[in-house]
Amino acid sequence: MDNISVSTTDVRIERHATQLSRQLKLLREKLFPPLSQKTLRTFTSGEAAQMIGVSDGYLRQLSLDGKGPQPDVSHNGRRSYTLRQINELRQHMAKIKPKDALSYLPCRRDGEKLQTIAITNFKGGSAKTTTTLYLAQHLALEGYRVLAIDLDPQASLSSLLGVQPEFDLLDGDTLYGAIRYDAQRRPLKDIVRKTYFDGLDLVPGNLELMEFEHETPRALNERLKPEELFFRRVGNAIAEVEANYDIVVIDCPPQLGYLTLGAVCAATSLLITIHPQMVDVASMSQFLLMTSDLLSVVRKAGGDLQHDFIKYVVTRHEPFDAPQSQIVALLRSLFGDDVLTATILKSTAIADAGLTKQTLYEIEKGQVRRSTYDRALESVNAANGEILASIHKAWGRT
Ligand SMILES: Nc1ncnc2c1ncn2[C@@H]1O[C@H](COP(=O)(O)OP(=O)(O)OP(=O)(O)O)[C@@H](O)[C@H]1O
Ligand SMILES: [Mg+2]
Repeated sequence: MDNISVSTTDVRIERHATQLSRQLKLLREKLFPPLSQKTLRTFTSGEAAQMIGVSDGYLRQLSLDGKGPQPDVSHNGRRSYTLRQINELRQHMAKIKPKDALSYLPCRRDGEKLQTIAITNFKGGSAKTTTTLYLAQHLALEGYRVLAIDLDPQASLSSLLGVQPEFDLLDGDTLYGAIRYDAQRRPLKDIVRKTYFDGLDLVPGNLELMEFEHETPRALNERLKPEELFFRRVGNAIAEVEANYDIVVIDCPPQLGYLTLGAVCAATSLLITIHPQMVDVASMSQFLLMTSDLLSVVRKAGGDLQHDFIKYVVTRHEPFDAPQSQIVALLRSLFGDDVLTATILKSTAIADAGLTKQTLYEIEKGQVRRSTYDRALESVNAANGEILASIHKAWGRT
């Protein structure tokens, strides 16, 4: 008799977990040697000029005059800039042309409140993490100061941003460290880490976030002050670091638990991702009903449920698929302007980029088939552009 059949299920599953974890670790070490830190590619002077909003010729002149950060020059004379240098050039331009400072440095000004955007839907695989990542990177490339919070114990966002949740984190290194109920709570500023993207910081996630779901029912039986209740804790933690950022994006787990409710209460706006298929949309109607039920309880207990905007983002869209088109049309007829005009297309370029842990913003052009890349990137940029326009509107910018 082999010993699997005599072992009890707990022992057997534990053995599977250990085997799997060991193999994954080996695989990861092969793909990402421990010392290979993720880095962001550099940008050609043409790309940099476009990002900053000046001409390529002007950038060349700046570097010839020795003004601003000096680009890397290749043997054939091509100049390239890191994102940090591009941000330094933005500072430089804002200083020499103070009248146009806002166009070079779009960061929020006095009176423009921090925007916190929760990306949510309890439907698993509705592209929440992908949408969060692309939005965060887009905003950072545009020159905003962005904090991405991984609220999912599965931590895909963290690993896509170069943090390996099983190996790189100690106890209390996730948002849980800043929202826990006991005396081991730490300030969020000690948990935030820089990423390889200049201007994009991360609060990583891992399994310890589950503790919050387990501890909250007990905490509800204790007499907590109103500002210490579970739905205030995510917002309170963010408020500690608010001065450092323009926009916070929160990747929610695919459950409507206490973490998600905390994120929704902390948020100034919501993005609800939708994969336009009948099964997903059917579960979304349940999601909306449950969310509304739970939120009304939270509101009556004093939760803040004013949001600047709530937008539905259609993702993994196949515009030539007739049933999908019907669903998108239905959503638009029901929710009107609350559905983003742009949809994020289903694209192997996005799916593959997920496997290689690189987004379309990160890969060098030429690494993928051009037409696929362009179409996918255009759709993501259009969606992100609309979200940014809503953020500007919330800031009162025209
Ligand atoms: N536009 C797209 N085109 C093709 N594949 C996509 C696209 N967006 C997401 N995917 C793929 O779909 C899968 C699910 O996406 P993602 O992880 O972002 O969903 P999620 O809602 O965060 O999932 P979970 O509920 O498990 O957290 C991933 O493999 C991702 O690479
Ligand atoms: Mg996810």
